[in-house]
Amino acid sequence: MDETHFQEGITFDDVLLTPRRSSVRTRKNVDTSTQLTRKIRLNIPIVSANMDTVTEASMAIAMAREGGIGVIHRFMPTDSQVAEVARVKRSESYVIEEPYTLSPDHTVGDAEQMMERHDVTGILVVGKNGELRGVLTLRDIRFGKDGSKRIRSVMTGKERLITAPDGTTLEEAERILDEHKLEKLPLVDETGRLQGLITSKDIMKSKQYPSATKDSKGRLRVGAAIGVRDGLLERAEALTSAGADLLVLDVAHGHSNMVLDAIRTLKTELGDVEVMAGNVATAEGTEDLIAAGADAVKVGVGPGSTCTTRLVTGAGMPQLTAIIQCAQAASQHNVPIIADGGIRNSGDITKALAAGASTVMLGSLLAGTDESPGATVIRNGRRYKVVRGMASLGATAARMERERPERSVDDLQRVVPEGVEAVVPYRGRISEVLNHLLGGLRSGVSYCGASDMAGLKRNALFVRITQAGWQESQPHDIGISE
Ligand code: XMP
Repeated sequence: MDETHFQEGITFDDVLLTPRRSSVRTRKNVDTSTQLTRKIRLNIPIVSANMDTVTEASMAIAMAREGGIGVIHRFMPTDSQVAEVARVKRSESYVIEEPYTLSPDHTVGDAEQMMERHDVTGILVVGKNGELRGVLTLRDIRFGKDGSKRIRSVMTGKERLITAPDGTTLEEAERILDEHKLEKLPLVDETGRLQGLITSKDIMKSKQYPSATKDSKGRLRVGAAIGVRDGLLERAEALTSAGADLLVLDVAHGHSNMVLDAIRTLKTELGDVEVMAGNVATAEGTEDLIAAGADAVKVGVGPGSTCTTRLVTGAGMPQLTAIIQCAQAASQHNVPIIADGGIRNSGDITKALAAGASTVMLGSLLAGTDESPGATVIRNGRRYKVVRGMASLGATAARMERERPERSVDDLQRVVPEGVEAVVPYRGRISEVLNHLLGGLRSGVSYCGASDMAGLKRNALFVRITQAGWQESQPHDIGISE
């Protein structure tokens, strides 16, 4: 070991971006679109973290509507994770290809159960060969209709239904729905068999969220995290069958042979699926993941707000240096990187993207929103939500409880946590939080004399600051009222 083994690493607070001449008239004109993986593009460079206090279906739906994406965490059984992915994929689409259906001989009680379970207001009624026989809506069964009655006796029959041929465009469907003041338009083929459903709700949503991240069928995109151990392929297959657009192979020390083997397995066995892998913090790690087939590389060892990896193990890399080195390596292969962890405000987002990341992954910054899993807690009269590191004692104990109910106290004592559990202030709706973050990012881009993400990277000129410079950057010499 000699001095050449020591490199210096920096992170967000060590630098500022040098202001440069700008031609941006209003920050609204800054284009924030970016690559998430080799193939998937986003309108905003923000990804919600695969943590059990951050991303399940509600968060993923909200993130995709705003133009980003959410990654559903993996700390649940496969069928639960598949159900979360399916909830996102079913939340909206151009055409619902497999609407919920029952036969005319099912009962009103069956229909009520189905509506409640899937949170829908209508069921299509089909015969044995898939021919459309009618529609049953909540309206038909309100006022406590007898649950044992057959659907055929209360449904709106085919003769009174407005339908459209398979292949009807969205514009045409909107016109028909409008003209007849309808909410649901079943699509049928020439023999009358049900082929799909277009709803006015879906049409409205696509107008309300014009930047939404969608697949070719108009469904919101979603990622799903997986680990390298038990049942890798089984889980991965189940998630992609449910429509997951992206698999995120997420391991604390991602530069490992197990991760490299897992990437190869996924890419050969599942063919077309996009695989993001990590976490790494070096150019070497990035090169190895890309050589194994990764479509995006997640960067960050120990910067996260709930991480104690660096304290517990002594290993890690200051996040800005990690981003710069990994991005340089990844850009040779046109593979995007995701800066994961340690982002505390919009300034950090601008710095991460300027340093070469294509997107940022946020954990605790989003954990306080309505859309994160879990309820709010009140402490000293203020509202908070819980956030916990996925390697914290609480999260590890919950995982052991689920996977090995027969575990002993000794097993728990052997756990060496690399994360903590905490609370963050309640922040309201995610759309408002994102609005603030993106406003700051757009201004930051214009300070750098750029108008899009590529320009930001090109123009970025970091200035290394001193402790005094850092102090000057904070509000100072005033009494802060809040
Ligand atoms: P932020 O700072 O946005 O970071 O909350 C989110 C990222 O932190 C990572 N993470 C962990 N890292 N121990 C760790 O060392 C943990 O228990 C832990 N839990 C989450 C993860 O990369 C996440 O996206």
